[in-house]
Amino acid sequence: MLERSDLAENALECLHNERYGEAFEQPDLNAQGMIAMGGRDEVSLDGDWFFAIDPYDTGLRQRWYAMSPDLTRKEPWDYSPFEGRTTAVPSCWNMQRPEWYMYEGSVWYTRLLAPEDLAVAAGEKVFLRVAAASYECKVFFNGTFLGRHLGASTPFFVDLTEYCRQGCNWISLCVNAERTAARVPMKNTDWFNYGGVHRSVSIVRTPRHFLRDLHVRLKPGSDYSEVTVSVVVDGPDDAVRVEIPEAGRVLEIETADGAGETTLTWRPDLWSPETPRLYDVIATYGTDRIVERVGFREVRREGQNILLNGVPVFLRGVAVHEDDRTAGRVTSEADIERRIRHVKELNGNFIRLAHYPHHEMVSRLADELGILLWEEIPVYWAVDFRNSATLDDAENQLRELIRRDRNRASVIIWGIGNETPDTDDRLRFIGRLAAVCREMDEGRLVSAACLVNHTRLQIEDRLAAHLDVIGINEYYGWYEHPLEDLSRIAENSSPDRPVVITEFGADGVPVSEGGPSEGLFSEDYQCEVFRRQFEILSEIPWLKGTCPWLLYDFRTERRQNIYQRGFNRKGLICADKATKKKAFEVVAESYARIAQRHEGRGACAEGDHSTFSQRP
Ligand code: GCU
Repeated sequence: MLERSDLAENALECLHNERYGEAFEQPDLNAQGMIAMGGRDEVSLDGDWFFAIDPYDTGLRQRWYAMSPDLTRKEPWDYSPFEGRTTAVPSCWNMQRPEWYMYEGSVWYTRLLAPEDLAVAAGEKVFLRVAAASYECKVFFNGTFLGRHLGASTPFFVDLTEYCRQGCNWISLCVNAERTAARVPMKNTDWFNYGGVHRSVSIVRTPRHFLRDLHVRLKPGSDYSEVTVSVVVDGPDDAVRVEIPEAGRVLEIETADGAGETTLTWRPDLWSPETPRLYDVIATYGTDRIVERVGFREVRREGQNILLNGVPVFLRGVAVHEDDRTAGRVTSEADIERRIRHVKELNGNFIRLAHYPHHEMVSRLADELGILLWEEIPVYWAVDFRNSATLDDAENQLRELIRRDRNRASVIIWGIGNETPDTDDRLRFIGRLAAVCREMDEGRLVSAACLVNHTRLQIEDRLAAHLDVIGINEYYGWYEHPLEDLSRIAENSSPDRPVVITEFGADGVPVSEGGPSEGLFSEDYQCEVFRRQFEILSEIPWLKGTCPWLLYDFRTERRQNIYQRGFNRKGLICADKATKKKAFEVVAESYARIAQRHEGRGACAEGDHSTFSQRP
């Protein structure tokens, strides 16, 4: 049995030490290490990386990460980081080779860096940025362990500066996608557990002293005439210069203990889905300079209403997973533009990005094309609400999401839970997450998708007290019956804040894809559920939004009947993201009527989606 290796001090250690993982649990790579990106130059490390699966964590036990490119072999070896198979970054390994489809253990990505990749000038700092790796990612640089990140869908940074060396530099990422009871989400979900570095990896260089955070927003309650700018710097206290050229304004923010904030009296043109107006905001600190494109708008609740720039809005939405039948979790600008175009064809103005943070391109494109967003973290079903490490993980994913996207006008709601049980532990856990949202970002609404009490036919989840908007998942006409009970829930409930139906719908499989011509799983049955749902929902006065579940069929191996075969078929469009089901038109017509009623607006005529022509 090969276990001799002068890399692993005591070769037998590799066989007998089952606490090997403890050496790689700290330091956390988390929200504190994030850097304001605002248009920074990045050296892309996307492309082919050496790749190997490692089902027994032999790499950590035998210290594969310490194998340098110039290693002279004196004994046989099991693995070399610099030879053999490669895989693309970004990608999900599940979609790369059939034998890796259901693999959920550890893998190793290794890449040699060219001298120009680092090219650190005197005094500069150099960081590795990973836009997302599912689920856990341990980072090694030139054989040294630099930290571990938890969370499948948020970005993290690693400071490489002190570890760069002349000659050859290399990065090894040990990524693990196991589903466990302690992770967020935990091991039982209704979506496919993709593993891998599924978003881009890059090198980011900054001056020695740089901007860690820039947060720009309308001051709530300022009658749209005050803009608050907050900054965090990594370096000595000094003035940060903030310029909004189109406002003809320049601010100087003095920092204290690395942070500073000021408020500017200025009435910008407001951002809205109809008028997605964006401004460049330029921040300079020493020799560091970043540019954020920001839309200014106010979203708040007033009684049972959601107000956007002071006007009540009805969220004509649809939910969507970040899932592709070919690319898995990997998305693209074209994929996202298609998604937004389909929502506008539905006469929609809102997307629930379920059930985890989607790619950062989504909110940037939504800012430009004018669509409202719900972004959420995967506190889904039976998360371990008693586990402090689980809460730390959930809170960090939330902080990373908010830090990444809080300058995006299109994001109006942070979602912090989905169908979680109404228990004391869950109330404390998600109550903490609601407090974090409000601590980091006073300009948005906080929500969660709750369940109704089907026995008492009422909305009565205790979590509602922590939320600005009560999300409700209900499947009357599909999982729950009779549909008339939905009307009784409406009569029995008197919410004191806005309510949005965050999920409703039914599976529908076209006959052309093997679906039945009638009955459960047929398109006609799916259409009838939506028709009757909208008949009831559109009569509920306190309802301020709806999100059919969902836009596209998506992969989930817990669905194995003859119509599903590993896919959830509740999409309005098939997994090809092209074949519209009959229900698509039912929802589009319902939203046209709702838009007419709420806003007196005609729906977009088929194909007339002028916001697409507005893109620069
Ligand atoms: C639940 C859950 C979704 C799931 C859906 C379904 O409400 O939130 O993630 O896919 O129901 O059963 O299709």
